[in-house]
Amino acid sequence: MKLLLKALYPLLWRFRWRLLAGIIFLILSNFFSIYPARLVQQTLDETLMQIQRGESYAVILRSLGYFVVAVIILAIARGFFLFLVRQTIITTSRHIETLQRQQLFQRYLSYSFAQLKRVSTGDLMARLIEDTANVRMFTGPGIMYTLNTFILFVMVLVMMLQVNVKMTFYVLAPLPLLAFILYKVQGRINRYSTIIQRQLSDLTGFTEESLTAIRLIKALVKERVFFERFHEASLSLYDKSLRLIRFDALFYPSIALLIGLSTLFTVWLGGLEVLQGRFTYGNIAEFVIYVNLLTWPIASLGWITSMIQQAAASQARIEEFMRWRSELSFPKQKVKPKDFSLVFQQVWFRYPNAERFALKDVDFILEEGKVLGVTGRTGSGKSTLAYLCARLYDPTQGTVLLGRIPLQRYPQQQLYHFISYAPQEPLLFPDTIRNNVRYAKLDATEEEIVEALRFADLWKDIEQMPQGIDTFIGERGVMLSGGQQQRLALARAWLKKAPVLILDDVLSAVDTETEQRILYQLRHSSYRPTLIVISHRLSALQQADYIIVLEDGKIIEQGSHEALLRRKGFYYCLYHLQFRNQPCAEDYF
Ligand SMILES: Nc1ncnc2c1ncn2[C@@H]1O[C@H](COP(=O)(O)OP(=O)(O)OP(=O)(O)O)[C@@H](O)[C@H]1O
Ligand SMILES: [Mg+2]
Repeated sequence: MKLLLKALYPLLWRFRWRLLAGIIFLILSNFFSIYPARLVQQTLDETLMQIQRGESYAVILRSLGYFVVAVIILAIARGFFLFLVRQTIITTSRHIETLQRQQLFQRYLSYSFAQLKRVSTGDLMARLIEDTANVRMFTGPGIMYTLNTFILFVMVLVMMLQVNVKMTFYVLAPLPLLAFILYKVQGRINRYSTIIQRQLSDLTGFTEESLTAIRLIKALVKERVFFERFHEASLSLYDKSLRLIRFDALFYPSIALLIGLSTLFTVWLGGLEVLQGRFTYGNIAEFVIYVNLLTWPIASLGWITSMIQQAAASQARIEEFMRWRSELSFPKQKVKPKDFSLVFQQVWFRYPNAERFALKDVDFILEEGKVLGVTGRTGSGKSTLAYLCARLYDPTQGTVLLGRIPLQRYPQQQLYHFISYAPQEPLLFPDTIRNNVRYAKLDATEEEIVEALRFADLWKDIEQMPQGIDTFIGERGVMLSGGQQQRLALARAWLKKAPVLILDDVLSAVDTETEQRILYQLRHSSYRPTLIVISHRLSALQQADYIIVLEDGKIIEQGSHEALLRRKGFYYCLYHLQFRNQPCAEDYF
């Protein structure tokens, strides 16, 4: 709770005038909802007097008419100020929620790749969407109802004490008990709600997973298994929901019962007071109205308390991420690289939380405009090497240099302009082909986009699509073939025309002929980046000036294609296996 307020203080302070106006409107609206009680008392007592005095009906009706008009005016005034209360306090909470979300999302984007990998997407989403909404429940309704209850209570108390101290005490005595009982019931309701919410999000997660894996489910004919799991999960949710409804159903009638009892109490004790001349009939009516006015706000105290507790927990979760700082820091000062050579100097790298080194003493020099081929078994560290080139991670030991300057000295934007990286798994957005390519360079012209698609040999495929370049490719690009997805990601990486281009196995699902055409262009057109080609397939490395073979994070062989063949080692064997379709004598595989 303390943390909640402390963290929200600057945000609330920003809206202090609005909140202050909200409090004034609250006082006014409460005044207009309380005052009719006094009016009822006066009218009732006056009417009784008039009847006793034997006034004519016309006179009595006229004074009743005044009363009705006054009550209507007061109700309108009350409604008007209530509207203003919501316009000030509730809108503030929406502002705060939006600001919090923006701040948090900005934080997410600033985290390093390694940090983001450590938390689940679901967790990031929950904090961004649900936790901020919980905090909004505090900054909006939480603050509004708390203030309202307090203001109303003080005002009613003042009004009651003016009339009769003893009656005030009698009438208010049962209220704390009422608040306590309802607080307990509310606790139960909350517990069930939490369980239901968790089960609901499990169900959502399960559905999403099933739909993502639908091809696999169908291929393995596992529809039944998945349906049964869904069936069970939804039944359990149904069961919990019914229990919640039962509690909810008990909640409202109990409040009605308690209100009824305290009304009865007021009338009975009030009647006794009237007999002793310390109270009027009008006062009884007035007090009954007060009790009714107070009951709901006091009944909702339990709800407010639990809401605030929930908001505090949510705020703590938000704070946790707001306190995180990016593990990779980028300087602001621009640097001037001498050229676009890429150098690894005795680079060792271990993933955070991993025990083994994924790269061990990797050392190479790639001159500007040259092509480095990287091959090796699966899990040998090829992608890791690409991550380090794009500075998604920093080396544990050693240095990666671009143009003789360590990558750590480049501002983020500059690094982004110098290095283009096409990851092994094509990352596509549920958008059109055009927009997917454009992500790399938002101001790219139509010609540039088409040129990139032509380069990636995707243009001929696009020409056959009815919507052409504006074809929507679906979630993660499911409407494209694997090879098309890869080539789309390649077009995107190429579009930027960065001086350094890293292709992590991006041609694995493309036929050899296309692969050769693409690689040929990268060497022989006007855009000739410093290039790293990572591939299992040796055919992709034929254009390489220099090749390194990784094994368990170490470079085990390096040199030109011919030199490597002469060595008759791993590369030689791989070559024989892939081009001659025959295993070699050495026992490599
Ligand atoms: N995020 C990670 N955390 C811990 N270890 C990792 C992580 N990513 C990869 N590794 C480990 O690092 C090693 C190298 O992985 P890497 O992805 O670089 O292999 P690769 O050569 O690209 O393999 P492939 O040919 O299958 O793409 C592997 O042993 C892998 O298990
Ligand atoms: Mg890889």
